[in-house]
Amino acid sequence: MIADVVVDLQYGDCGKGKVAHALCRENNYTHVIRYNGGCNAGHTIYHDGVKFVTHHIPCGVFFGIKSIIGPGCVVHPDTFFQEIEQLEESGIEAKSLVKIASNAHLITDFHRAEDKKDEELGTTKRGNGPAYRDKYARKGVRAAEDPRFTEYIIDMYYELYEEEHETEVKILFEGAQGFGLDIDWGDYPYVTSSHCTVGSAILNGVPPKSIRNVWGVAKIYETYVGAKDFEGYEEIFEQIRELGQEYGSTTGRKRQINWLDFDLLKMAARINGVNKLIINKMDILEQLDQWCLFCGPSLFQFDNRKDTEDWIESKLIEEVDKEVEVVFSGDKEFI
Ligand code: IMP
Ligand code: MG
Repeated sequence: MIADVVVDLQYGDCGKGKVAHALCRENNYTHVIRYNGGCNAGHTIYHDGVKFVTHHIPCGVFFGIKSIIGPGCVVHPDTFFQEIEQLEESGIEAKSLVKIASNAHLITDFHRAEDKKDEELGTTKRGNGPAYRDKYARKGVRAAEDPRFTEYIIDMYYELYEEEHETEVKILFEGAQGFGLDIDWGDYPYVTSSHCTVGSAILNGVPPKSIRNVWGVAKIYETYVGAKDFEGYEEIFEQIRELGQEYGSTTGRKRQINWLDFDLLKMAARINGVNKLIINKMDILEQLDQWCLFCGPSLFQFDNRKDTEDWIESKLIEEVDKEVEVVFSGDKEFI
C-alpha cells in the first residue's frame, strides 16, 4: 500500500483541491480519500477549465477514481446528494465512484440548527462542531445507520485490506481545512473540530509506513475566515482580496488577509513531515509586485519574486528538511 497526503499548512483555502486534482492526473491512484471535516470545506477545482466547488466529495471523481469519504469525516446527507447530482449534471460520473465509510458520522439537521447559533467562533454554520461533539460523546450516528446511504456505504477495512484489487492499493488522501485551524495545533478556540494534519490521514485506516509523499500546500500570503481579528492594517490587503478572489467558497464570507507567517509555515511543515511544499497564488503578488512576510516579530520585505522565493526555499531547506522540494505556483489548474 502506498499513500500520498495533501495537507494545508495555513488556514484552509490554500489550494488543496487544485493540488489533489493535479496529482490525480499524474498518478494512477486506486482511491482518493477525504480524511477529515465535513461540508464546512469548499474545494475549488478547475477541471478542463471549468470551475467546480466540492464540499464532501474527493476529487478522484474527475478521473474515474474511487473516491471515499473516510471514517474521520462527518457527512450531511442533503449536501452530499446535492453534490452528487451537480457533478452528474456536469457530466462527471460520481454515483458509481463515490463511497462513504460505514463509520463516518452524520451531520444532522439538529447539528446544523445548533451551529447556526454560533456567534463567538465564526464557524461555517454547517453543523461540523456539533457533529464531532456528539461523535466523541458517543451519541453520534454513523453513516451506515442512514438508509439513504445504503448504496454508497463501504467497510473501510474490507475495502483496503480484504478486497481483491487489480493493482496495489495506491491512495491519495485529500485533507480539509488547515494546520492553523487544527483542533490541537491551531489557535484554540478559533479552530475547527477535526484534526487537519497528516496524522489524521493515518487515522483513516492506513499504516504510517505506507505514507510516501506529504504535499504541504500554502499561499504566499495568508487568509483566514472566522471571528478572530487576523487582518493587518494595510491597504494592499483589499487589493489582494479582490485579485485573489479571497471570499469563502462555502459561505461567501470575506477572507481576512495578512502576510505569510514563516514561523507557522515552518511549524506546519515540520509537524506534518512535508517533503513537497507548494506555495500558491504567486500570480497575485506578482500583479502587485509587493513581497513581504513575517519571520518572528519582524516584517521582511523583498525587492522581487525571485528574492522572495530564494529566501523561503533556502530557509525551509535549512530549517525543515534539506530534501524538501519547494514549488512556487501561480496557476489555477496546474501546480
Ligand atoms: P467550522 O469548521 O465550521 O466549525 O468553523 C470553525 C472555523 O474554521 C471557522 O473560523 C471557519 O471559518 C473555519 N473553516 C472551516 N472550514 C474551513 C475551510 O474549509 N476553509 C477555511 N476556513 C474554514
Ligand atoms: Mg476552501
